[in-house]
Order: sequence, then structure tokens, then C-alpha cells
Amino acid sequence: MMKKILSPSILAADFKELGRQIQITEEAGAQYLHFDVMDGRFVPSISFGMPVLASIRGASRQIMDVHLMIEEPARYVREFASSGADIITVHLEACTDPGDTLDQIHACGVKAGLTIKPGTPVEDLAPYLDKADMFLIMSVEPGFGGQAFIPESLEKIRKLREMLDAAGLDTDIEVDGGIYQSNVAEVLDAGASVIVSGSGVFKGDIRKNTEEFMEILKKYE
Ligand code: DX5
Ligand code: ZN
Repeated sequence: MMKKILSPSILAADFKELGRQIQITEEAGAQYLHFDVMDGRFVPSISFGMPVLASIRGASRQIMDVHLMIEEPARYVREFASSGADIITVHLEACTDPGDTLDQIHACGVKAGLTIKPGTPVEDLAPYLDKADMFLIMSVEPGFGGQAFIPESLEKIRKLREMLDAAGLDTDIEVDGGIYQSNVAEVLDAGASVIVSGSGVFKGDIRKNTEEFMEILKKYE
């Protein structure tokens, strides 16, 4: 079985306490840190960018898992790589040439992820199956934290796991949006290996929340 990973999304953190809050997730076992970049065009909101990543990267040993919700992300791949990204995930819908964008990410020496919004069919990922190090299935409409998990996402995860199996690939499938301790098992059962959670980790007792997630994830290894 693949190792199961928790990637807390700092979008839901309290930014005046960010360093300390990140440290708690690391101590409690979260291996990745999910960094949501929004440009006000691909999604309506604006979040944070390179300087914030460069700053937090020095405060944690976690894998910096950068989710670019920006139009034509190829424009910023190099800067996010040099600011400390370990994985850069781009939206299929935002790229003129997704394959070329994945190549550009690899050329910077970092891992490349490819993601789709809830309305995009999972079959659209087929041409890129062997080109990405991770696929991200969005289980909410990208743009905001705290939304409800879209149940149809489970079928997309299952389908993508089948497509990867058929191609002889054991690529990570990350899932992002509306995941809590109460529904993470369904997401893992469907074939996910990397779990993003913002509200489920940072709202309330961060250490306890993270430990609860890690306990469930361990049962799936
Ligand atoms: C949504 C972001 C998510 C978000 C998840 O656009 O990509 O990473 O922060 O937050 P929760 O877990 O609160 O749905
Ligand atoms: Zn995200």
C-alpha cells in the first residue's frame, strides 16, 4: 500500500500565528504543507504568493505542496520553485499547454502536479498520466476554504485510480476541499493518497485535529 500523507492547507490558519501553527502540524505528523496561491482571475479571491512561501519554507521541514490557482501558471513556475516549492500543482483549465507547463516545472527540479476543478471530467487527464508526479482532484470549487465536499468527487478519484492502475502507474492522488476526520475514510477508500485539509486542521485544536487525521491515515498504510 502507498504511504498516506496529510497536507494541511494554511489558507485556514491564523496568519498572525502562522509559524507556530505550522510547527504544530509538523510535530503532530503532517508530512506536507499545502500552499494555496490565488490570483483573483482564475479564482475570485487573492491569497498569498512567493514572499510568504520563501518565509515559511525556512520555518518547517515539511514538503512544500504549492497549489497554483492562477491563469497561465507557467509564468510563475520558476519563481515558486526558487521560493522553496517542492511540488508545484497547476490547473489543467488554466494552462494553454499543460504538458509543456509540467515540463517547465520539472526543468526547475521540482515535482509536478496536475489538477482539475469539479466540473472537469477526469478523462481529460488521460493524455498526461505519465507526465505528472501527482494528480489533484478538487472536491470543492477552487477559491475558498470551508466549503462542503462534493460527493461526486469520490467517483472521479476511483476512476482516476483505475486509469493509473491500467497504465501501470502508482502516482499519488491528492484530494482538496471539504475533508474532515468524519469523511476522510471515504476519500482514502476511493484511492486517494494525499489528503488536503484546511478547516479540518486549523479550526479548533490544531494538534488534536492533526493527530486525529494521522491516526486514520495510518490505518490505510
Ligand atoms: C480551495 C483550496 C483548498 C482549501 C481547502 O480553493 O484549494 O486547499 O484551503 O480548505 P478546506 O479544507 O477548509 O475545504
Ligand atoms: Zn488547495
